[in-house]
Amino acid sequence: MKKITTATLKKMKKEGRKIVALTAYDYATAQIANEAGVHVLLVGDSLGMVVLGYENTLPVTMEEIIHHTKAVARGNDSALLVSDMPFMSFQINDQETVRNAGRLVKEAHAEAVKLEGGKEVSSRVKAIIDAGIPVLGHIGLTPQDVLLMGGYKVQGRKAPEAERLVEDALAMEGAGAFAIVLECIPAELAQAITDKLSIPTIGIGAGPRCDGQILVTHDMLGLFSRFTPKFVKRYADIGATMREAIGRYKEDVEKGTFPSDEYSY
Ligand code: KIV
Repeated sequence: MKKITTATLKKMKKEGRKIVALTAYDYATAQIANEAGVHVLLVGDSLGMVVLGYENTLPVTMEEIIHHTKAVARGNDSALLVSDMPFMSFQINDQETVRNAGRLVKEAHAEAVKLEGGKEVSSRVKAIIDAGIPVLGHIGLTPQDVLLMGGYKVQGRKAPEAERLVEDALAMEGAGAFAIVLECIPAELAQAITDKLSIPTIGIGAGPRCDGQILVTHDMLGLFSRFTPKFVKRYADIGATMREAIGRYKEDVEKGTFPSDEYSY
């Protein structure tokens, strides 16, 4: 597949072609997603929950995102590689934000960064773009605000909230973001935002009318079962396959049937 860039995504929106995005945290997944033709790979801070076992995404560090982005970059040829800016990597000031975004590109080989927030982060988005780094916005349910929100809830159900989200989306576009993730908002609102913007929207729990969709790989493959949001479609149950395979391995070792002659020198 031809290398996907931010320009490709804008062209896809114009042509009405859907953008397929997925999270990835390791080399093997990046390779498989490339083979499947995924357009965008996101090293999301969901990494903290589904790979590192944290309670939420707040403890994720720059070092952890860099480490995993490097692995994905080694396995990725064709997809646009986006890295998440972890909690407190962009909240302090523009200077620190640009320095951290720069590390994701320079050290980890990300091709763009994503950060959560609306109007309040538009100066940060602009500063990163002024430094030459493309930015993917993320509005709606922003998991880094879990403490403020008191849990993970659908956003924008009431009119004032919905209006604020439209303003946030416009602010992100105005600041120069190349696309925006819309997380957990009503499908009708996502459609309205998608129609208003010239840049693509990538939905997760935001209905079918976004310009693209993203899911957390571990959710859609059945590798993370602590909780499963309503918007997750399980495309496989790799967790069950692993449990069964590991169980058979244990049985073979305990019975002494592995390794047989076939697997011995
Ligand atoms: O961290 C993440 O994986 C994300 C996606 C859910 C969009 O932000």
